[in-house]
Amino acid sequence: MDKLIIEGPTRLSGQVRIDGSKNAALPIIAACLLTESKSVIKGVPQLSDVFTMCKILRTVGVKVSFLNDTLEIHPGGYTGNTAAYDYVSTMRASICILGPLLAKQLYAKVSLPGGCIIGPRPIFIHTKGLNALGADIKVEHGYLIAKTKGLKGNTIYLGGPFGSSVLATANVMMAATLAKGKTIIEYAACEPEIIDLAEFLIKMGARIKGHKTHTIEIDGVKRLHGATHKIIPDRIEAATYMIASCATKGDITIKGANINHLRALIDILIEAGAVITKKPNGAIRVRANRRLKTIALTTLPYPGFPTDLQAQMMSLMAVSKGIAIITEKIYPERFMHVGELNRMGAQISLEGNSAIVHGAKNLSGAEVMASDLRASAALVIGGMVAKGKTTISRIYHLDRGYKDMEKKLSLLGAKIKRVKS
Ligand code: EPU
Repeated sequence: MDKLIIEGPTRLSGQVRIDGSKNAALPIIAACLLTESKSVIKGVPQLSDVFTMCKILRTVGVKVSFLNDTLEIHPGGYTGNTAAYDYVSTMRASICILGPLLAKQLYAKVSLPGGCIIGPRPIFIHTKGLNALGADIKVEHGYLIAKTKGLKGNTIYLGGPFGSSVLATANVMMAATLAKGKTIIEYAACEPEIIDLAEFLIKMGARIKGHKTHTIEIDGVKRLHGATHKIIPDRIEAATYMIASCATKGDITIKGANINHLRALIDILIEAGAVITKKPNGAIRVRANRRLKTIALTTLPYPGFPTDLQAQMMSLMAVSKGIAIITEKIYPERFMHVGELNRMGAQISLEGNSAIVHGAKNLSGAEVMASDLRASAALVIGGMVAKGKTTISRIYHLDRGYKDMEKKLSLLGAKIKRVKS
């Protein structure tokens, strides 16, 4: 298993280019199962989660080839309909093949994802939505088995206890494209990744309206065709570098990101004292000349502050001036990074789903363990701020969602290297 060794403190400066969005790419790759003909997806990041999704498509009989950042997906007359535990247990997003398989094959067998380190992660919103379209779903031997004689449009309220669900919206929207009649999804997620998926489906011939809002309307069609599409930039990757710039009192220019997807973060970083400017070429410059001030923030569905940035913000707040309160309203248990950051000298305590962060002047390098993708990024930020050597183990989590992170950070001046252990 690889480890990252970081020698801190570092002040990051320079330019970094953002890759395509992992969370947009995964459901779009799954959407290719809705047709027989070839799709070409550009700007796909070469990440282990993307490779897992490609493997799942291959196991159901789809031809998939990756050249640089372009994926060619040729479903032909694929006949498979099962996603096995091995894949789903490594990547929960595998669940988003349920909707397309069911719509196309009228049958899908997908391993239940179970819990994960960031919390229980149930899937009843997915099944509620697909049931409303006419699917019969049961659980047998750890698998969800979904069958239908033909999906029919319906009006479906998709809200859950923590608001909208991104992948449940994706699953129901994809299934509804081939259902008979009109589907209206109320309380749909409106994350940029859902909009990107809807735009890909429209290119495939789907009839979708309202996908920038919480009410999506889909008029089912008989068949879809392949399409060519470029994935949107990864807003979480961009945001992670923006936060890293602030934590290291750096000066980074982010290239290739969409500033409109980053409003919640920009608002908070400016409040904390960062200087953020948009350059004429669309690049975003993020500077912090001194320690930032602490702020209060709460994670919420888009356009609120993303849960996928909560851990990275915790590292920034751990070295800011004052006391920060960070409340997690999407995954109330997503705090595994707290103990690891405290090993580096951070002063963070938990009260329910809130973290109280007493900003420290410095952190000190330590041996720490990554617990999930975004927690890994938080530890990398912590390691670049801390004095001395930080060793981060289990960085396979990082490889699920950040392409070439140590290379990109090295170019920005970080002393970071990957070692095999
Ligand atoms: N929820 C339910 N029931 C369900 C589904 C979800 O209660 O049936 C709850 C969840 O437990 C959570 C909330 O609803 O409390 C929102 O979860 P959501 O379904 O939106 O999460 P997801 O679609 O499974 C995607 C991202 C996650 C990101 C969340 C929230 C992908 C592949 N994954 O997951 O990304 O945290 O939305 O924005 O798009 C990551 O990239 O690190 C990551 C975990």
